[in-house]
Amino acid sequence: MIDFKKEVINSILNIENSLDQDEIESLIEIPPNYDMGDYAFPCFKLAKTFRKAPNLIAEELAEKIGEGEFFERVENAGPYLNFFINKNKLTETILEEIADKEDRFGATDIGKGRNVIVEFSSPNIAKPFHIGHIRTTVIGNSLYKICKFLGFNAIAINHLGDYGTQFGMLIAAYKKWGDKEVIESDPINELLKLYVKFNAEAEEDERLKDEARYWFKELENKNQEAVDLWQWIRDVSLKEFNKVYDLLNIKFDSYAGESFYSDKMHRVIEELEEKELLKESDGAKIVDLEPYDMPPALIQKKDGSTLYITRDIAAAIYRKEHYDFYKNIYVVASQQNLHFKQWIKVIDLMGYDWAYDCVHVPFGMVSLEDGTLSTRKGRVVFLEDVLNKAVNSTKKIIEDKNPNLENKEKIAEQVGVGAILFQELFNGRIKDYVFNWDRTLSFEGETGPYVQYTHARANSLLEKGEFNLEDKVDYSLLKEDEVISLIRLLYNFPNAVLDAFEKYEPSFITRHVVEIAKAFNKFYNSCPIMSAEPEVKKARLNLVYAAKTVIKTGLGLLGIEAPSKM
Ligand code: ARG
Repeated sequence: MIDFKKEVINSILNIENSLDQDEIESLIEIPPNYDMGDYAFPCFKLAKTFRKAPNLIAEELAEKIGEGEFFERVENAGPYLNFFINKNKLTETILEEIADKEDRFGATDIGKGRNVIVEFSSPNIAKPFHIGHIRTTVIGNSLYKICKFLGFNAIAINHLGDYGTQFGMLIAAYKKWGDKEVIESDPINELLKLYVKFNAEAEEDERLKDEARYWFKELENKNQEAVDLWQWIRDVSLKEFNKVYDLLNIKFDSYAGESFYSDKMHRVIEELEEKELLKESDGAKIVDLEPYDMPPALIQKKDGSTLYITRDIAAAIYRKEHYDFYKNIYVVASQQNLHFKQWIKVIDLMGYDWAYDCVHVPFGMVSLEDGTLSTRKGRVVFLEDVLNKAVNSTKKIIEDKNPNLENKEKIAEQVGVGAILFQELFNGRIKDYVFNWDRTLSFEGETGPYVQYTHARANSLLEKGEFNLEDKVDYSLLKEDEVISLIRLLYNFPNAVLDAFEKYEPSFITRHVVEIAKAFNKFYNSCPIMSAEPEVKKARLNLVYAAKTVIKTGLGLLGIEAPSKM
């Protein structure tokens, strides 16, 4: 595919050698609208070299460069040199590229030979998998897919919260009041009840806390009864979580959660000791982070038990040894910013030069319209229920609008779940946002169903028009403004993917895909296809095919299906 930005650089280099390629590249801008060209080169920097006003330089350069193969016009507007792409060339190059690469259009091999870990979702065992977990789950899954698309060897890790003192409580509570059958009938709710009851009673009766400590120690000592109970609790919880992962079509490469590091912690503590980083504080062991304006990292409690942060340190070291990662990405809520800053600093203090290859990708909170989410107040909204509700509402809409649709169960699932994913991935991740049912499920506006519907419409056009990818196309027949706007968006898709990766921001793709869908619908409304002259029809169908292909790829990177009929 022609890289027009490179051609801008080349045409400047051809006549002007006081700047090198990289300098020119860093100066090139994209004008705010296309009336001002596709690329702009500001001439301020050259003014010094030539001791001339930048306007004059821009004017002279414009004249020297003139028009050429890649640009239909090169003009100056004040100190800027503006380049207008040759639209025929643009159309030809992009449509040929998409026809050639198909669903690999936009893919690269920049990640070849590099391992990238994307850790996401990581719910806590025996606790509800609620709507608050949705963001890590879907942002993480999308980043994982983006990494793969760019050629990285991506590894999806679910760092389950399956260890810690709360398991002492659960085991103690189960031994007191638990009933296996009852729990198996509704694991998460029943385990949660046990947990809440235990906490309440422990407020009154200190001895319960000792019992919990005792059972956690037994778990650490690998007492068979404790380990078996823990394993069972983990299994029944994971079975529940998997219902959600199945609905979302998410697969992990590893479920090595916190417990996986239980036997890898003493090594970390020894190493911290050796490197003279540990300090005693009231019988506990800490790493002092005061010089870095942070509270101390509590590594080991007075009773010898380790903590969440200790497990994160052990996990990072293990992952480096095991995967030799290029990047180790954590998609975790911004409430944990300090936690991540602390332990990554500890890794740095341990002398590991890869400390800052561990990247925390934070995100803001989701709340519900009727108030914030709170597990403590019992206002838990299960993620599975939200997804099912979306699927059911979609089923109703389909029954209403298109009752004869084949495979409607499956499609309702793809559209319902897709609607939720799309909403989640539409806003920048760092902002807090309020979950709104109506907006999510609407077929209009910037929503998942709107984009999916556009894709399905494109698909049926291709069928009706008997589109054949092998047909020769006269690209010069594609010239309307609506066509060119769509073409430009398709051309910029690979950049949107790269930006999404570099900023860990899938919303760049979501927004780009919506723009493509909108531009497609404008094109479709103003340029008739079926009734057009045969050659024009062929060319327009080719564009429909390209748009459909890119929309599908974009949705795929977000973890959203693109049904061919709706
Ligand atoms: N289980 C934790 C929670 O639900 C999230 C774990 C995040 N990952 C990590 N490596 N600390 O809050």
